[in-house]
Amino acid sequence: MSLILAIESSCDEMSVAILKDKRELLCNIVASQIDTHRLYGGVVPEIASRMHVECVSTVLKTALNEAQIDLHDIDAIAVTKGPGLVGSLHVGMQAAKTLALAYHKPLIGVHHIAGHIYANELVEDIEYPCLCLVVSGGHSELVYMKHEFSFEVIGQTLDDAIGEAYDKVGRVLHLPYPGGPVIDKMAKTGQHSYKLPLPMNDDSYNFSFSGLKSAVINLKHNADQRGEEIVAEDLACSFQDVAIEVLVSKTIKAAQDYQVNEIIVAGGVSANSGLRQSLKENSPIKVLFPPMAYCTDNAAMIASAGRIMYENSQFSPLDLSVKPSYDLEKESVGK
Ligand code: KG4
Ligand code: ZN
Repeated sequence: MSLILAIESSCDEMSVAILKDKRELLCNIVASQIDTHRLYGGVVPEIASRMHVECVSTVLKTALNEAQIDLHDIDAIAVTKGPGLVGSLHVGMQAAKTLALAYHKPLIGVHHIAGHIYANELVEDIEYPCLCLVVSGGHSELVYMKHEFSFEVIGQTLDDAIGEAYDKVGRVLHLPYPGGPVIDKMAKTGQHSYKLPLPMNDDSYNFSFSGLKSAVINLKHNADQRGEEIVAEDLACSFQDVAIEVLVSKTIKAAQDYQVNEIIVAGGVSANSGLRQSLKENSPIKVLFPPMAYCTDNAAMIASAGRIMYENSQFSPLDLSVKPSYDLEKESVGK
């Protein structure tokens, strides 16, 4: 039995969730600032942390109210410690430490990517060993998980993360921020008519998306200079097809090489409809995706990872610091 209160504030969402046991989610409040950052075409860190300060108490109160839970009954306070924007992370961390200190509760600092991975367990048990494809705004990684809470990063992007590439392509096509979900939608009505390079088409498990992103940007700029019209839906479809092809082929190859039981997907780009369809169609083994509501940043996923850390007594000292980058492999629990 456990009752975990979790706080996630690593980027532009302030979120508080309360999770009872493995998957009885009593609340998952997400206060998004996307409408504000959209005005600037991307997240402005200084604005993000200031807006977090303004809303953290309200989000916490709303969560406790919706869950009908008294803070005294909580078993532990889980909080994202990184990676993320330092100013944003600080706000969630200070709130978590204050609650832990005032209510004499253990503090659990959760790695943001471990949170994304365990969003999958909010619906179904993960079968180990498994291979996780992590695809978010800041990460593109292949993680081998021999057992619960063990993380071996076997491949990663050498430059841009896939979500970042989506958002930059969105910007050059003058789409609202974030470009990822908009491109996903446009790609459905477009044709794969533009020829783009297949990035890092090699035997490694690494990715590279900056060449693909630059190819799209150059194609658009050259067309603009010549006064030619670009069919935005077709360019979105061509970009998405190529990005998905490399993600899916490398994931399946790694899953076969490591002889895993299951492929799981994590991070904001796991919401992508093309990726979902292609992985499901091409994978010879089971593929697990997080429910759509828990793909992008939310505290339910931090509570889910925090619940496992609570059971493993992985508690954090009250002088825990936030960091823009934390090593995922160091979070592993030996078995
Ligand atoms: O995991 P997340 O919420 O934040 C980070 O930890 O980075 O991921 C946000 C990223 C953004 O780049 C956004 O464009 C992308 O996820 N994203 C998508 C889709 N939904 C969100 N990318 C492609 N297709 C989608 N449907
Ligand atoms: Zn995230």
